[in-house]
Amino acid sequence: MTSQRDLKVAIILMIILLVTGFICYASFSPPTPDEPIRIMFQNKGGKVLFTHSGHMEDYGLDCLDCHHNIEDDDTYNCSECHESTGDEDLPSRADAFHIQCQGCHEEGGGPVECNSCHAL
Ligand code: HEC
Ligand code: HEC
Ligand code: HEC
Ligand code: HEC
Repeated sequence: MTSQRDLKVAIILMIILLVTGFICYASFSPPTPDEPIRIMFQNKGGKVLFTHSGHMEDYGLDCLDCHHNIEDDDTYNCSECHESTGDEDLPSRADAFHIQCQGCHEEGGGPVECNSCHAL
C-alpha cells in the first residue's frame, strides 16, 4: 500500500522533473526568428528585392551558404558584424553583400549587372 507520504514525495518529484525539463527545453532551443520570405534592401544604389525563400526552395541553397557564421554565432543579421565601414579583414556591410551576392551569381548564373539587382 502506498502511504500518503510516499504519494506526496512522488508528486513533488514529478513537479521538480517537469520544471527541470521545461527549463532545459527553454534554454537549449533559443527561438529562431521567422525566416523572411523576401527582403527589400533600401540603400543609396537603389532598392534591391531579395527573394530569401526562393534562394532556398528554387536555387537549392543552404543557410550556411550565406549565414557563414551561424554555427558559432546564432545571429542571422549581417550588420551585427559587418558594419557600415569595414577593413581588409572584415568587409563593410555593402562590400559583404556585393562579394557574397555577386560572387555566387558569377558562378551560379544569377544577375550581376548593377541594375538587375538595384532594379527599383
Ligand atoms: C542566398 C543567401 C541566403 C540564404 C541561403 C539564407 N539567407 Fe537568411 N538572410 C540572408 C540575408 C542577406 C539576410 C538579411 C540580413 C541583414 O539584413 O543583415 C537574411 C536574413 C535572415 C533572417 C532575418 C534576420 C534579421 O535579423 O531580421 C533570418 C531569420 C534568416 N535569414 C534565416 C535563414 C535561414 C534559417 C536560412 C536557411 C534555411 C537562411 N536564412 C538562408 C541571406 C540568406
Ligand atoms: C557573427 C559575425 C558575422 C556575421 C553575422 C556575418 N559575418 Fe561575414 N564575416 C565575419 C568575419 C569575422 C569575416 C572575416 C573572416 C572570414 O572570412 O571569416 C567575414 C567575412 C565575410 C565575407 C568575406 C569572405 C571572403 O572570402 O572574402 C563576406 C562576403 C561576408 N562575410 C558576408 C556576410 C553576409 C552576407 C552576412 C549575412 C548574411 C554575414 N557575412 C554575416 C563575421 C560575420
Ligand atoms: C550561393 C549563391 C547565391 C547567393 C549568395 C545569392 N544568390 Fe541570388 N541567385 C542565385 C541563383 C542560383 C539565382 C538564379 C539564377 C537563375 O537560374 O536564374 C539567383 C537569382 C537572383 C535574382 C533574380 C531572381 C530572383 O529570385 O529574384 C536576384 C534579384 C538575386 N538573386 C539577388 C540576390 C541578392 C540581393 C543576394 C545577396 C543578398 C543574392 N542574390 C545572393 C544564387 C545566389
Ligand atoms: C547581386 C545583387 C547586386 C548587384 C549585382 C549589385 N548590387 Fe549594389 N547592393 C546590393 C545589396 C544587397 C546592397 C546592400 C543593401 C543594404 O545594405 O541593405 C547593395 C548596396 C549598394 C550601395 C549602397 C552602399 C552603401 O554604402 O550604402 C550602392 C551605392 C551600390 N550597391 C551600388 C552598386 C553598383 C554600382 C553595382 C554595379 C557595379 C551594384 N551595386 C551591383 C546588391 C547588388
